[in-house]
Order: sequence, then structure tokens, then C-alpha cells
Amino acid sequence: MASQLDALFSRRRQLVEDFLAGAVRDSAVPETLARAMNYSLLAGGKRLRPVLCLTCASLCCEAEAKVLPFACALEMIHTYSLIHDDLPAMDNDDLRRGKPSNHKVFGEACALLAGDGLLTDAFACACQADVPPERLVAALAELARAAGSAGMVGGQQMDMECTGRDNVDLEHLRALHAKKTGALLRAACTCGALLAGAEESLYARIASFGQELGVAFQIVDDILDEISDPAVLGKPVHSDREQHKATYPALVGLEKSREFASEHVRLAVRALEGLAGEDARELCSLARYTLERVV
Ligand code: IPE
Ligand code: IPE
Ligand code: MG
Ligand code: MG
Ligand code: MG
Repeated sequence: MASQLDALFSRRRQLVEDFLAGAVRDSAVPETLARAMNYSLLAGGKRLRPVLCLTCASLCCEAEAKVLPFACALEMIHTYSLIHDDLPAMDNDDLRRGKPSNHKVFGEACALLAGDGLLTDAFACACQADVPPERLVAALAELARAAGSAGMVGGQQMDMECTGRDNVDLEHLRALHAKKTGALLRAACTCGALLAGAEESLYARIASFGQELGVAFQIVDDILDEISDPAVLGKPVHSDREQHKATYPALVGLEKSREFASEHVRLAVRALEGLAGEDARELCSLARYTLERVV
């Protein structure tokens, strides 16, 4: 992963790593809970959501230092979702980011609470963004909606309801992916724009970019579960198949899945067409990277 990503966004990823290293350090947090939260938060990960947020804010002319706490809040929420996703009651996966899953080390109760802690603390962290209050409130509302029951949490519920079913259709699966993974990736982009006070037409392009990227990202996640190697991926493979999850490869096969992912990336890139500058170029590179990623 490092070599593929090093060429991309290494400076922004480092900003995120440095901030996250100090994000959970309140002495009022019980020691084991803080260790469990940091265990997953500081275990690596591609940091795509915060990088997207920083890049979209910068594209809309906001200083990335001002939005960094908000960007890192997205990673805290993402990390919570992974901890809960791995629990026995959900995907029951024992490996995450190259290490034993949170509940394997800290137990299920502590893993649940580490997730709860990261989710809730994320909003306190996001509030540290140094932007005008009306922009911050707009971005917080967007983040809450994307992460919550109409977004990621709703998508996870749809995922659980589809597990073991044979009659899931493509339209339903696309909607599921758009919620469980797409909503937070889209919000990573749109919150960057909202924090920067972007005008409506630029916001709409960024939203469309994030939406398409989000669906492509989960299709490739499904493909990697089929074709990758746990030593490279840092999480189990064939987990979806074993649990009879609703995935693109299960529904349409690998080749067609790749075609769908490419089409969503093409639409993402098209949404930014005509925008000049390094940030727009970086977003397009990130979208293309999504198709080639091995992690
Ligand atoms: C994995 O997300 C779970 C999905 C939502 C598809 P990532 O592939 O971004 O995981 P990390 O953050 O790099 O570990
Ligand atoms: C997870 O989807 C989506 C969220 C955590 C919200 P998956 O269950 O496919 O993610 P991985 O493959 O375990 O990372
Ligand atoms: Mg899952
Ligand atoms: Mg999973
Ligand atoms: Mg997966």
C-alpha cells in the first residue's frame, strides 16, 4: 500500500497522521478505552476521507490547516464504523489494518465503546475547525446525516438485511453501497466544500464527484475481497463469499464489477471537468487510483 499511495497525497496524509496521533489524549478518558480507540485509529489506513476533505476545501480556496480537525473527525467516524463492522454480530472479521480486530484484543464490550467514543468525540473534534460558525454548522449537519441512519448506519442495516439473501437486485445493491460507503466518502468531499463556503455550482460538482467515487470505492472493496491476499489487504479475503454478502462480484461477476467501477470513476472525473489547478488534478488521480488500488 505504501508504495502505491506514497506518490499520492503523502503530504496531506502526513498532516492527518500527525493530528490523529494527538486526537485521543484527554486524561479523563479511562486508560483502556483510550488504548482501544488509538489501537484502531493509529493502525494505518489510507486516510482517504480526510485527504478528500482537505483537498476539496483547498480546491474551494480554504486553508487546509483550518479544516484539519474536521477532516480528521471523518477518519474517527470511519474508524468507528470499521470497529463495529468487524464485530461478531456484524461481519465477524478478525483482521483489520493488518492487525487483530479491535474486539479480538480488547473484547466486544470495549470495542463497542471504543467505536462509540470515536463517533461521539469526532463531533467535538470537528468543532475545532477554524471557519465561520455558519459554515461549520452546515458541515456538521451534513456529516451527521451522512454518518447516521439515513446514510452509513442505514447502509450497514441494509447490508445486514441482504446477507444470506439470493434475490438482491442491482438497483438495491447500488443504493446499499451508496449509503454504507458512498455517503461518508461523499460527505468527506462536500464538507470540505461547505467549510470553504463554496458557491452552489462548485458544491454540486464536488458532491457528484464524491457520490460516484463512493460507489466505485465499495465495488472495488468487494472485488478485493474476492481476489486479494490478506497479507497485502490487511483484512480477511473471501469473507463476503463465506457470509453470503450481497456484493457486486456475487451479483454480476468480477469483469462486470470492474466495468461498473470504471464507469463510476469516469463519472466522478467528469464531474470535475474543466476545473483547473493542482487540487482538481489530485482528486482525479485519487479517483483513478481507486480502480488500481491493491489495498
Ligand atoms: C474500508 O475502507 C471499508 C469501506 C468502507 C469500504 P478503507 O478501504 O478506506 O479502509 P482503510 O481506512 O484504508 O483501512
Ligand atoms: C463496510 O463495508 C462499510 C462500513 C464499515 C461502513 P465492508 O464490510 O465491505 O468493509 P470491509 O471489507 O470489512 O472493510
Ligand atoms: Mg460489512
Ligand atoms: Mg466488513
Ligand atoms: Mg468489504
